[in-house]
Amino acid sequence: MSNVAVSPTAALIVGASQGIGQEFVRQVLASNQFDQVFATHRNMQAPLLDINDSRLHCLPLDITDETQIAGVVQTIQTHTPSLNLVVNCVGWLHREGVSPEKSLRALNMAQMEAYFRVNTIGPALLIKAVLPLLKHPHPSVLATISAKVGSIGDNHIGGWYGYRASKAALNMLIHTAAIEYKRSCPHAILVALHPGTTDTRLSAPFQRSVPPEKLFSVERTVGQLLAVIDKLQPDDSGEFFSWDGSRLPW
Ligand SMILES: NC(=O)c1ccc[n+]([C@@H]2O[C@H](COP(=O)([O-])OP(=O)(O)OC[C@H]3O[C@@H](n4cnc5c(N)ncnc54)[C@H](OP(=O)(O)O)[C@@H]3O)[C@@H](O)[C@H]2O)c1
Repeated sequence: MSNVAVSPTAALIVGASQGIGQEFVRQVLASNQFDQVFATHRNMQAPLLDINDSRLHCLPLDITDETQIAGVVQTIQTHTPSLNLVVNCVGWLHREGVSPEKSLRALNMAQMEAYFRVNTIGPALLIKAVLPLLKHPHPSVLATISAKVGSIGDNHIGGWYGYRASKAALNMLIHTAAIEYKRSCPHAILVALHPGTTDTRLSAPFQRSVPPEKLFSVERTVGQLLAVIDKLQPDDSGEFFSWDGSRLPW
């Protein structure tokens, strides 16, 4: 973030145990733009912990646990009073025996609730909790990784009820929080970002129908998203951007 070069600087990457989040940690460290990088992981065996860099602080966090979210913020505050970049990369689509719902027949309370807890409610509580760290006079960005399938205007094929709805609700929360942040943290820019289909655990079962040129490596995706973040202007706050910087319909 070239326009955020104020010293000392700190970044927080949430959901960094693997996939897009872990690559954010690597590229943010490699950019040498931040004096401190905080990275959260749920899995205690996360390969993230193998990165040997004195600027990196790894903190355990399950985003569905409000107490843990508050604890992460408190720990960060023992190191720094402010953050310049927050990227939430947490997301859930499937696990063994649980696939996104193809039709109404497949809807059930437990799965819908799980989508909303991980993809929507946890991220909302994170946006609430980090507010004090973004209340400073320097430009900062809070980005949450959403998904184009959460766009209502772009939904022409249906299916994936819970995941789509949880990401659509996440987009609404970002838009709403951006309005409040404008009053309390006027230098913070809040955005929802679509990463493009990326070769990670999350997309693995659905990659067969994706042409190779449309399946991005995590390196490519994060490079593209950091380029989008770098160009953000105050007027962009509350908006939903794709990996190429274009605006997506709600
Ligand atoms: N890959 C794609 O094609 C694609 C497309 C559109 C949008 N996205 C979005 O991009 C983001 C990153 O996904 P990815 O592709 O990198 O998937 P991934 O490799 O499966 O990574 C998902 C991350 O979310 C974390 N996570 C899941 N539940 C959590 C919880 N309750 N608390 C804390 N962390 C939790 C995972 O931690 P664990 O390792 O502990 O499970 C992991 O670090 C997600 O928001 C996803 O919806 C991805």
